[in-house]
Amino acid sequence: MLVPQIIIFGGFVLSQIALTAGTKVSNDAHLFPYEAIQLSDGDLKKILHSKSASTSLFDFGRTSTKAAHKPRARCKTYPGDLTWPSEPIWNLFDDLLGGALIKTVPEASLCYPEWGRYSAVECEELTRSWNNSTLRIEDPTSIRSILFQGMTCMPPNYTAAFLGRSVNCSVGGFPEYTVNVTNVKQIQLGVNIARNLNIRLVIKNTGHDFGAKSTGKGAINLWTHHLKDAAFYKNYKAHGYSGPAFKFGAGVQVYEAYKLARQHNVTVIGGEGKSVGFIGGYIQGGGHSPLTSIYGMAADHVLSIQLVTAAGRFITADPKTNPDLFWALRGGGAGTFAVVTSMVVKAFPRITTTTLTYNMTSTGTFTKEKLWAAQRAYIDGFEKYADLGYYSYYRIRHLPGGELYHDMTSMVAPNTTSAQFRATMAPLWGKWEQLGVPFHPVIREFDNFPDAWELAFPHEIWTWTMRQASRFLPRDTLSDPVKRAAMVDSIKSVSDEGANILLFNMRNPPGSDQINNAVNPAWRDILGFAIMFVTWNVTDPEPYVTELSRNLTYEWNPRWRALTPGSGTYMSESDYIEPDWQESFHGDKYPRLVAIKQEWDPEDVFYATNAVGSEKWELGEEIMGHLPSQNSRLCLKEVE
Ligand SMILES: Cc1cc2nc3c(=O)[nH]c(=O)nc-3n(C[C@H](O)[C@H](O)[C@H](O)COP(=O)(O)OP(=O)(O)OC[C@H]3O[C@@H](n4cnc5c(N)ncnc54)[C@H](O)[C@@H]3O)c2cc1C
Ligand SMILES: *[C@@H]1O[C@H](CO)[C@@H](O)[C@H](O)[C@H]1NC(C)=O
Ligand SMILES: *[C@@H]1O[C@H](CO)[C@@H](O)[C@H](O)[C@H]1NC(C)=O
Ligand SMILES: *[C@@H]1O[C@H](CO)[C@@H](O)[C@H](O)[C@H]1NC(C)=O
Ligand SMILES: *[C@@H]1O[C@H](CO)[C@@H](O)[C@H](O)[C@H]1NC(C)=O
Ligand SMILES: *[C@@H]1O[C@H](CO)[C@@H](O)[C@H](O)[C@H]1NC(C)=O
Ligand SMILES: *[C@@H]1O[C@H](CO)[C@@H](O)[C@H](O)[C@H]1NC(C)=O
Ligand SMILES: *[C@@H]1O[C@H](CO)[C@@H](O)[C@H](O)[C@H]1NC(C)=O
Ligand SMILES: *[C@@H]1O[C@H](CO)[C@@H](O)[C@H](O)[C@H]1NC(C)=O
Ligand SMILES: *[C@@H]1O[C@H](CO)[C@@H](O)[C@H](O)[C@H]1NC(C)=O
Ligand SMILES: *[C@@H]1O[C@H](CO)[C@@H](O)[C@H](O)[C@H]1NC(C)=O
Repeated sequence: MLVPQIIIFGGFVLSQIALTAGTKVSNDAHLFPYEAIQLSDGDLKKILHSKSASTSLFDFGRTSTKAAHKPRARCKTYPGDLTWPSEPIWNLFDDLLGGALIKTVPEASLCYPEWGRYSAVECEELTRSWNNSTLRIEDPTSIRSILFQGMTCMPPNYTAAFLGRSVNCSVGGFPEYTVNVTNVKQIQLGVNIARNLNIRLVIKNTGHDFGAKSTGKGAINLWTHHLKDAAFYKNYKAHGYSGPAFKFGAGVQVYEAYKLARQHNVTVIGGEGKSVGFIGGYIQGGGHSPLTSIYGMAADHVLSIQLVTAAGRFITADPKTNPDLFWALRGGGAGTFAVVTSMVVKAFPRITTTTLTYNMTSTGTFTKEKLWAAQRAYIDGFEKYADLGYYSYYRIRHLPGGELYHDMTSMVAPNTTSAQFRATMAPLWGKWEQLGVPFHPVIREFDNFPDAWELAFPHEIWTWTMRQASRFLPRDTLSDPVKRAAMVDSIKSVSDEGANILLFNMRNPPGSDQINNAVNPAWRDILGFAIMFVTWNVTDPEPYVTELSRNLTYEWNPRWRALTPGSGTYMSESDYIEPDWQESFHGDKYPRLVAIKQEWDPEDVFYATNAVGSEKWELGEEIMGHLPSQNSRLCLKEVE
C-alpha cells in the first residue's frame, strides 16, 4: 500500500497523513475520507427499517446488464405528475442525506417580491456582479449557458425581451432539488432515488458547460463543487506508470490544481480557464491545455477513476478494473456514464514557460484588410509553431463602432526560453512590421508553467446572451497553402458577416493517436481549433436573435465543415445544436461509446443534451423554434 506524500483536505494541507479510513481501492491510490462514507446494502436495510419506509426508494440498481433493461417510462417524472414524490419522501431523502438537500431558489429570486426574500440593494449588487463567474459557481443551480434553461429567473435588467418574457422569476429549467454533496453516500442515495422514481438526474460542478449540460427541469442535481480534496504522490506506481501524480476530488477547479502543482514543483495538464472544473466536464470531455502541443489532452494522463455508477455502486475504473468505463470516461464526455468522485492524474516535471500577449485594433491606416493580412501571415506559421510545442488562444471581435479588435489572450511556449521564442517569431514580426501592424508585445519567461498561466490568462466572465459553433482545423487543411488560404477566407467571411472569432493554434504530439481512450480521433490531427460566437443584447427583438442564432448553425459553420471533411469538433466548445454531433464529437469511436453507455446505464438514469446515448430522448419544447429547451419535459422519442 502506498502512502501519499501530502493530503489536502478541502484546501488545508496535512502532511504525511496515512489514510486508514475506508476501503483500499485497486492496488494503488487511497480513498479520500469523503469516499469512505458509502451506502451499503446493510446500511440501507437498517436505515430504512428504522424509518419504516419502503426500501425500494433507495435500492441499488441491478449491476449487470446483459438483460435488456429499458428506461422505465416514456417520460421522466415531473412536479405535478401523479407519481412525483410527496413532501414526506423529500423529507426522508433530506434526512438520509444529513440535511444536504436544497430546494431550488433561483439566485435572482431576491429581485422578485413574490419569492419572499426581496432586497433592492442586493438585487442591484447581484445585477452588477452577474458577470462574475466566482459568484455564480457558488450557487447550487446557476449555470453559464442560461439561454438554454429558458432564462426564467434573471435580474430584471437582463430579462430576455427577445424570448417574450415579462419581468418575472420561476424555477423553469433549473433542477427542482440539489444535493449539496460532501460524501459518496449522498451521491449513491441521489442516483438511487432518481433511478427508482424515474426522475431526471443532473450533475453540476461549476456550471460552466456551454451546452447547459448541468441543468434540467424537474431534476435532482448532484452538486459536486465542495469535493475539494487533493493528494500528491511523489512516486505513484500502477499499470506501468511510475512517477508523480495527483488525486483530485470532483470539485477541484483548474486554478486549484495549478496551485498544488506549483507547490509540489511539478506540472499538471489543465485548461486555460481559471474557474473551470478539472475532473468534471473538462477532463471527461478530453480537455485541451496550453500544454497540449507537447503533452496532448488532459484525458491522456488519467491513471485511475473513482465513480458512482447508474446502479448506485461505488467502484474503481482503471486499466485493469472496469476498463471499458475507464476508456469511455477519458474523452467520451461527462454527465452520461457515471458520477466521478475523483481521479488520479499524472504530473510532469516543472518546465520553463514563455508567454506572449498583445492586442491590436483596426483603425486609421491599419485597416481591417491589414489586420486580416497580419492574420494570414500568422496562420502561415501554425504548423511550425505547433510542431515546436507552442499554443495560442486569441480572439478577433467586432467593436461597437465597427472596427475589429484582436487580442492574443496568450501564446504559450512551453519548455522554451524567451530568447528561443523571440528567435522563432522574428520572421513573422518582421513581416508585420512591413505591413504596419501596431504590435506591442508583452513577453514573459517563467521557470514554471503555473505562474505563467496565472499571469497570461484572464479570470473568465460569465456570459448570458451568447451562442457559438466551432470546427477543428486539421493539419491537412492548414499545411497546404491553397486549402489554408480558403480556410482563412472562410473564417474571414464569417467575421465579415458579423460573427466574432476565437482561434487556437495547437496540435496533439506525435503518437497521441495510439492512446487507447475515447478522445475524439479528430483531435489527433489538428493544427488549430476555430470557434465563432455571436452576442446580443437582452433588449434585441426575437427575429433578430433567431436569425443570428440560426446563421451560426445553418449558414456559417457549414462553410468550415465543407473545408474540413472528415474532421470534427470539440464537444465542450461546440454548437448546442451541432448537426451529426455523434460523428463530429466522437468519429468512429461512437458505436463503442454507445455500447458502454447501454451496458452501464441501460435505464438512462443519466441524460445530457448531445451526450452519448442522448439521441433516444427529446426535450418537448424549443427556444426560438430551434434550440431544445431544458425548461421542458424529457421524453423518449416516439419513433424508436
Ligand atoms: C471560461 C472557459 C474556459 C474554458 N477553457 C477550456 C480549456 O482551456 N480547455 C478545455 O478543454 N475546455 C475549456 N472549457 C470548456 C470546459 O471544459 C467545459 O465547459 C466543461 O464542460 C466544464 O466542466 P465543469 O465540470 O466545470 O462544468 P459543469 O457545467 O458543472 O459540468 C459540465 C458537464 O460535466 C458533467 N459533470 C460535472 N462533474 C461531473 C462528475 N463529477 N462526474 C460526471 N459528470 C460530471 C455535468 O453533468 C455536465 O454534463 C472552458 C470553458 C469556459 C467556460
Ligand atoms: C462586469 O459587469 C460590470 C458592470 O455590471 C462591468 O463594470 C465590468 O466591466 C464587467 N466585467 C467584465 C470583465 O466584463
Ligand atoms: C438596472 O436598470 C435600472 C433602470 O434602467 C438602472 O437604473 C440601474 O442602474 C441598472 N442596474 C445595473 C446594475 O445595471
Ligand atoms: C468576483 O467575486 C469574488 C467573490 O466575491 C471577488 O473576490 C472578485 O473580486 C470578484 N471579481 C470581480 C472581477 O469583480
Ligand atoms: C409572475 O408570475 C406569477 C406567478 O406565475 C404571476 O402570478 C404574475 O402575474 C407574473 N407577473 C408578471 C409581471 O408577469
Ligand atoms: C454546501 O456544503 C458546504 C460544505 O458543507 C457548505 O460550506 C455550503 O455552505 C453548503 N452550501 C449550501 C448552499 O447549502
Ligand atoms: C523542481 O523541479 C525541477 C525540474 O524537474 C528540478 O530541476 C528542481 O531541482 C526541483 N526543485 C525542487 C526544489 O525540488
Ligand atoms: C492592450 O495592450 C496594451 C499594450 O500592451 C496594454 O496596455 C493594454 O492593457 C491591453 N489591453 C487589454 C484590454 O488587454
Ligand atoms: C524540453 O526540451 C528538452 C531539450 O530542449 C528536451 O530534451 C525535453 O524532452 C523537452 N521536454 C518536453 C516535456 O518536451
Ligand atoms: C448592445 O447595445 C448597445 C447600445 O445600443 C450597442 O452599442 C452594442 O453594440 C449592442 N451589443 C450587441 C452585442 O449587439
Ligand atoms: C444571417 O446571414 C445572412 C447570410 O449570410 C445575412 O445576410 C444576414 O445579415 C445574417 N443575419 C444576422 C442577424 O446575422
